[in-house]
Amino acid sequence: MILPRTPLLVQGRLRVEPHPEAVAAVVAEQLLTALRQRARLGLATGRTMEPVYAALRERLQQLPAPQRRALLEGWRSFNLDEYVGLGPADPASFAAFMQQQLGGPLALEPGALQLPDGRAADPDAEALRYAAALAAAGGIDLQLLGLGSNGHVGFNEPPCSALAACRCLQLSQATREQNAAAFGGDPAAVPERAITLGMSEILAARRLLLVVTGAAKAQILRRALLEPPCAQVPASWLQQHPQLEVVADQAAAAALSH
Ligand code: GLP
Repeated sequence: MILPRTPLLVQGRLRVEPHPEAVAAVVAEQLLTALRQRARLGLATGRTMEPVYAALRERLQQLPAPQRRALLEGWRSFNLDEYVGLGPADPASFAAFMQQQLGGPLALEPGALQLPDGRAADPDAEALRYAAALAAAGGIDLQLLGLGSNGHVGFNEPPCSALAACRCLQLSQATREQNAAAFGGDPAAVPERAITLGMSEILAARRLLLVVTGAAKAQILRRALLEPPCAQVPASWLQQHPQLEVVADQAAAAALSH
């Protein structure tokens, strides 16, 4: 296998695994370690995270019950984002995704998984409330991130400054198309707005873990990691974080070596 030559790799911060399941195993181990250290987790949604959360569930379920309970009792995580207008009862909401992936199977206590409230009457005020709640909790120790096909992280759509804060914003057409599968395949059924942590809250996390799989992400991952940071590729701001680690499969890392 040809290893990509990137500054991140030279610093040992890019890990390339053969396939998504191997990526998931690496990331799940890191999440488990973080839970043992009582870290506050920043969590993400999306298809990339499904095998990650499956691997985490599996590891937790293999632990003796008292150990598992001790780890799960202290669970307090903050998700990146939520669609405006959707609540936990809507199967396409990120709240429902998190409940299905982790909350239900791990029997987490109500309130353990925090997300912006998509049903809030005033989404701008809700974004401020959510940012304040995160700050009051002490910020994020380990932030898990996926990568949007247009370079977004969370829902920080391009163009986006590194200083952007938690806010309610308009989703791009590209993102509504990318996420249409959860809405019966119809991009028009995807909500027009979302609440997202901003690049500033994401970059304030103590550690970042960017997880990218699949050939469809190869070009945008190359731009995010190898081009100078710029507003057109919000994920490129992550290069500036001293504790960024990237875990990718070979398909997603394919464009990093040329
Ligand atoms: C979504 C989420 C992001 C996620 C990204 C990638 O829109 N807001 O947090 O990382 O897009 O999604 P996927 O993993 O399904 O490709």
